Amino acid sequence: MINETYRTMLGKKSVIRELSELATRMAAEADPRHPLEILDYSLGNPSVPVPPQVNERAVWHLTQGEPAKVHGYSPTLGIPEVKEKLAASLARRFGIPYTAADIFPTSGAAGALAHAFRLVTQPGDEILTFAPYFPEYGPYILPTGCTLTVVPADTKAFQIDFEALEAALNPRVQAVLINTPNNPSGAVYSEETLQTLAALLERREREFGHDIWLISDEPYREIVFDGKTQPYPAAYWPRTLTCYSFSKSLSMPGDRIGYVAVNPECGCSAELVAMCGQISRGIGHNCPTALMQLVAADCCDLTSDLSVYETNMNLLYDCLTGLGLEVVRPGGTFYMMPRAPEADANAFSRKALRHRLVLVPCDTFALPGYFRIAYCTDTEKVKRSLAAFRELMREEYGVQ
Ligand SMILES: Cc1ncc(COP(=O)(O)O)c(C=O)c1O
Repeated sequence: MINETYRTMLGKKSVIRELSELATRMAAEADPRHPLEILDYSLGNPSVPVPPQVNERAVWHLTQGEPAKVHGYSPTLGIPEVKEKLAASLARRFGIPYTAADIFPTSGAAGALAHAFRLVTQPGDEILTFAPYFPEYGPYILPTGCTLTVVPADTKAFQIDFEALEAALNPRVQAVLINTPNNPSGAVYSEETLQTLAALLERREREFGHDIWLISDEPYREIVFDGKTQPYPAAYWPRTLTCYSFSKSLSMPGDRIGYVAVNPECGCSAELVAMCGQISRGIGHNCPTALMQLVAADCCDLTSDLSVYETNMNLLYDCLTGLGLEVVRPGGTFYMMPRAPEADANAFSRKALRHRLVLVPCDTFALPGYFRIAYCTDTEKVKRSLAAFRELMREEYGVQ
């Protein structure tokens, strides 16, 4: 019999993908004598190129590397020298004594999260996360048999509403899932937020008599503005599973490469990484490509030129706040999440389309009334879009 769970999911397609497809259709259907520029802010697909070393190292491995290593099956737990390089880089940067035994290479952050959830939960357990959150967490968690509970947002700063978290933490919670820098708000959790979170987890562990794991989803770790850096969550909590991806920092989401790093201070890291190999068998993950493991390890201390995202953010932030919109200034990523000028962000998004702007309503991010702008696009296009934002606010909302 055809599986009903997945069949039901067909009716709940990603709003982001649907809007992006609509934007492509609008451009294709325009009169070719008057091409229509669609100002598509829907998808989080990096717009800056990979650093040249990514392609150089890929070519090197393909032409000079050992064919059995580049094209053969990777060892179940990942290529040892890759794991060593990734661990050394993390240890150097964040002062945690990671070794190869703490690292499990995965297909992007999605692959990393798939392993992390299964490592520390059983079906029926609860995983907590915070609004607003990346809507794919729903389908990621569904097949684990766990429930995803969403803690209401701190809409002032998009840090954590600790009162709401206190109320939500109950003995069924085995893991707390954070994402900083955050998609969709662009917020960067402060040191104070991470310290307060750790203190609360410690208290609740004692009370509940079991471990509470922190699953830290960090694909935007390197995209932080104003010369700052993201405080490293695992440095605040020993039972942290760090889920990383090179999709955004090296602009290579199609290459599907990332990792789980288990904080060695948890005391059972080697066992957890070994268990990842078993989870992998069960979900058909079976290692990212050997080539991409090798390339990522060679380039793990590099990033693409990420400065364009900060330039774009400043242009949009100044324009939108100047138009009277309420926006928490993003500390990083390539997203921002203003409050819509009317209660229904879906209605706002439809009005924006009349002005060629593709903006994603945040209902599926668990924050109705807000919309997301993914500004991973060319700066000239961002500049051209500012007139469209002004026109939208003037013609639809009477803002002069
Ligand atoms: C918050 C968040 N987590 C996870 C992912 C998945 O990352 P990847 O494509 O590297 O699997 C994304 C992708 O956009 C994301 O924004």
